[in-house]
Amino acid sequence: MTSSETDIAQSTGLSRRSLLRAGGVGALVVGGVAAGLGTGIAPAAQAASGTTSLPFFGPNQAGVTTPAQQHLTLAVIDLQVGNAFELRTLLKQWTLAANQMSKGQPVGALSTPDSQAPADSGEVVDENAARLTLTFGLGPSMFDSRFGFTSKRPLPLSDLPVFSKDQLDPQRTGGDVFIQACADSAQVADHAVRNLIRIAGIRANVRWIQRGFLDVGGAPGSTGGTPRNLLGFKDGTSNLNTNDSARMANNVWASMSESPAWMAGGSYAVIRRVRTLVEPWDNASLKEQEDVHGRRKYSGAPFGGTAERDRVETALLPIHSHVRVANPRNGAASENERILRRGFNYSDGLAPITGPILNDEGQPVTGLLDMGLMFIAFQRDPRAQFVPIQTRLDANDALNEYLVHTGSGVFAILPGVLDTSDYLGSTLLDGPRATVAPTPTTTPAVARRPVPKKKRAPRPRKRLPRRRRTS
Ligand code: HEM
Repeated sequence: MTSSETDIAQSTGLSRRSLLRAGGVGALVVGGVAAGLGTGIAPAAQAASGTTSLPFFGPNQAGVTTPAQQHLTLAVIDLQVGNAFELRTLLKQWTLAANQMSKGQPVGALSTPDSQAPADSGEVVDENAARLTLTFGLGPSMFDSRFGFTSKRPLPLSDLPVFSKDQLDPQRTGGDVFIQACADSAQVADHAVRNLIRIAGIRANVRWIQRGFLDVGGAPGSTGGTPRNLLGFKDGTSNLNTNDSARMANNVWASMSESPAWMAGGSYAVIRRVRTLVEPWDNASLKEQEDVHGRRKYSGAPFGGTAERDRVETALLPIHSHVRVANPRNGAASENERILRRGFNYSDGLAPITGPILNDEGQPVTGLLDMGLMFIAFQRDPRAQFVPIQTRLDANDALNEYLVHTGSGVFAILPGVLDTSDYLGSTLLDGPRATVAPTPTTTPAVARRPVPKKKRAPRPRKRLPRRRRTS
């Protein structure tokens, strides 16, 4: 064992044996030079990178304003590292690995001595990067006493209030670290998360994982357009325009002028796992489905319009329709509230049934589908954006009859990693940058709303599926 291996073993808590099994520091730290070395072959991924790879480095992390890919693997991890030194070591290792994988390269040497496991799990060595983006964030729990960050907690990273209709599963709520892997290949996205978890080893407890998918542009030969959610509606029509840098500066990116400065170039993500009750939905009339949304199902047009992009006339929408409640179009106040939605559909087989559930005829009900939306939204301040929107939706949205919020989280999305000398979280651990690339702001600053009273997350409780008619 070299001295640097001893250092890593001490800082990570990995035993010498497990470190050697992981291929030593070279494999664990995944230095850029290690990729493909000694194999005698150039992985196809390397040959193809450039056309399908998106840069990992930049003032903002990729995966926020990046046009959505087709697949999501989202992991929320609780860390088992004890101090800021160990955290920095892990974040540097993740930085190196994330940059490698974003280029379509394995996280370490493909060939190893006979006694060692390969550094990379290997399932995508023949694939290109598939537009992989990896986006990292920190939850409120990272600002407890473990790392000495208590005074650095950003105010926008406040715990979300408990909404009246929440049925949150504690195993899918909160957590220390958010890792969002998006790619045009499910295997590439999964590989990325798996290898980041593997690099962390005993330093990470995976709290929850959610896979998702999106028919971006539709299947080959189809008409494409805005992807549809699993209720059959176009979802994303009136989302923010990510090419509008003034809008992104106003509604999405944290800036140098607000506290804390270490977050400049970062953002805040709210995630909600929202199950859609498709059994009753599929029996609802087309009129009911459209009334619930305030848009036409097939064209996506708002009520009163004929085409998807037609102007939304609020007065023409049913008063409790999802679109009207989500965005009442009250001028600057509504504009400042708008969030960048980047959700994915999910389908996880059957919903867990915790006891005999009877339908209205007294017959046992089984086989309710667990599918819905992995809602992900980026914003500059959840207290002034997601929270007021969701507060209105929770109280008034006609869609609530068909939704169950089962998971939740809020995360500070770290500023981007500038280059190979930088690493994820450097501004938090080493101090903010002197400047960040200026982003033009022409629209007014986000109006700060009164911060809702903080409530604690509910105690774990048994979750029962609702009684539902099956036919
Ligand atoms: C399974 C749950 C949900 C479904 C099926 C759903 C579906 C939709 C659909 C079809 C639209 C209209 C098309 C569009 O402009 O994108 C929409 C708009 C919107 N939704 Fe949702 N949504 C869900 C959850 C949420 C949640 C939890 C929020 C919380 C903030 C939210 C906020 C919005 C907003 C802000 C708009 C844009 C309204 C506008 O500006 O016109 N949605 N949603």
